[in-house]
Amino acid sequence: MRAIEAKNLTVRFDGQPVLRDITFQVEEGDFLAIVGPNGAGKSTFLKVMLGLVKPSAGSLHLYGKPCGAIPPDWVGYVPQIKTLDRSFPAQTIELVVSGLRRRWPGRIKKEERETAIRALGQVDAAHLAERSLASLSGGELQRAYLAFGLVRRPRLVIMDEPAASVDVVGKKSLYGALEEYRSEANANIVMVTHDWGVAHHHADCVMVLNCNMISFGPPREALRDEHLQKAYGHIGHKIFAYE
Ligand SMILES: Nc1ncnc2c1ncn2[C@@H]1O[C@H](COP(=O)(O)OP(=O)(O)OP(=O)(O)O)[C@@H](O)[C@H]1O
Ligand SMILES: [Mg+2]
Repeated sequence: MRAIEAKNLTVRFDGQPVLRDITFQVEEGDFLAIVGPNGAGKSTFLKVMLGLVKPSAGSLHLYGKPCGAIPPDWVGYVPQIKTLDRSFPAQTIELVVSGLRRRWPGRIKKEERETAIRALGQVDAAHLAERSLASLSGGELQRAYLAFGLVRRPRLVIMDEPAASVDVVGKKSLYGALEEYRSEANANIVMVTHDWGVAHHHADCVMVLNCNMISFGPPREALRDEHLQKAYGHIGHKIFAYE
């Protein structure tokens, strides 16, 4: 069974296409990276996967079901960190338990606490459980949100620029934790990233998007200069080593 199958997927806002005629497939267990310039429709694509935006035309199926019709337990979502309110008065553990319950917890039960601590441990963040969210660094907060996304052990992890505020060492262990989860759970990962190096090194397939699907395939193919040029207009200097 295909994990993700988009057929001529089109989304329009106020008549304007934001995603146009997107067709591709991803196999179970694979890691898809989505790259493209600001406003390319990347977050909109994730919202279609999450059932929050309806296709204007075409279709998107996840594990053989129309998106929006899959059990909520199958999907874990890690939001784009810049959209989060850091001043929210809560502890890390409450955030992770809210991912488990799908609503904000009042009193946390013992088993919930244990499950949440396990999820935090998976991303090397168990020591942050009792800290207030406001006191966490950007990278620590991102780990807390990764634990929030993984706590129900989803089949599909959807992430919007998960490493935006994480330093180089933090990134390495973030992607390490993610890879570990993926192989252990045979989960799919769909990640929007502005980091072509990450797409190259971690993904099985890459989609370069700018409203249209510019390219799709193994990283080496999809990230060829000509495709990036087409998507971004120019590609500046690639500062990552491919090999
Ligand atoms: N609800 C909406 N109504 C109208 N236009 C929208 C809506 N959501 C997004 N857009 C527009 O759709 C386009 C794509 O937005 P989207 O957020 O998907 O881009 P993105 O690729 O995630 O960009 P970024 O890299 O900045 O996060 C943008 O022009 C945006 O203004
Ligand atoms: Mg976005």
